[in-house]
Amino acid sequence: MSQRLETPSNIWITGASSGIGEALSKALIEQGHHLIVTGRRQEALDALASGAGDKVTTARADTTSKDELAAIASDLEARGDLDMAVLNAGTCEYLDISEYSSDVIENNLTTNVVGTARSLDIALPALRRTVRKGKQATLVIVSSSAWWFPFGRAEGYGASKAALTYFAHALRADLAAEGIDVVVVSPGFVKTPLTDQNDFPMPFLVSAEDAADRIVKGLKKGKREIAFPKRFTWSLKLLGALPQGLIDRMSASMSRQNS
Ligand SMILES: NC(=O)c1ccc[n+]([C@@H]2O[C@H](COP(=O)([O-])OP(=O)(O)OC[C@H]3O[C@@H](n4cnc5c(N)ncnc54)[C@H](OP(=O)(O)O)[C@@H]3O)[C@@H](O)[C@H]2O)c1
Repeated sequence: MSQRLETPSNIWITGASSGIGEALSKALIEQGHHLIVTGRRQEALDALASGAGDKVTTARADTTSKDELAAIASDLEARGDLDMAVLNAGTCEYLDISEYSSDVIENNLTTNVVGTARSLDIALPALRRTVRKGKQATLVIVSSSAWWFPFGRAEGYGASKAALTYFAHALRADLAAEGIDVVVVSPGFVKTPLTDQNDFPMPFLVSAEDAADRIVKGLKKGKREIAFPKRFTWSLKLLGALPQGLIDRMSASMSRQNS
């Protein structure tokens, strides 16, 4: 039976200044946990922390910057043993194939993959200190289900989340012997400032609060894979299991270039 989040825990959440990270932070604060919330916009972090008293520490840090992360490492220690790190900060930039730019690919990979990897520079030593004391430690990586099927315009985003999920699964293998759990969260469409920019239909869209609730429930159940909403993720899984020729035809017919 999982002990996760059973007692007040110290949790670091990246990308807490909006969307899923903000909703998850609010849910965890309400449940009595102690948070270190980070992002690049200090004002938004302050707004999140207001009213939460000493339950919340805010710290500004760009997850793509080693130096900015190193500067907040002491904040992770100051709270006491770090029980959980939720590496959620991310972006989504779509590619316009008629004006192909490798910058779009680089931006997605830098924030979603390199930023998460750099966050581990400070999260991993903190989680290791916790397990050395005989306590449970959990690393949560927020990926996406978007890469399970090749969607047009998502070359950069999909590649970054595929790489991120591989990264997380390989970490799970390497950290198993140390007793650090690695959890992968793979949401479908969630209504946040990120998806508010989308100009296409988003099937089975859920609210950020709903997403946070599903993540907390999954964590409490001890799950290592948290994917939602099921109607969306199962459909994608089924589509992704079709023969490649069929996938290619469906994918091309959905692409704007061919519509
Ligand atoms: N919304 C969806 O449908 C959906 C679906 C699947 C997966 N996801 C994933 O869920 C995560 C959260 O997305 P969201 O929808 O909640 O988006 P969001 O509202 O735009 O939030 C993104 C968060 O990441 C932070 N962030 C971005 N770049 C950063 C950087 N370089 N350094 C530090 N923080 C950075 C932002 O904070 P600052 O701007 O303050 O830095 C913000 O708090 C992302 O990893 C996203 O890929 C979202």
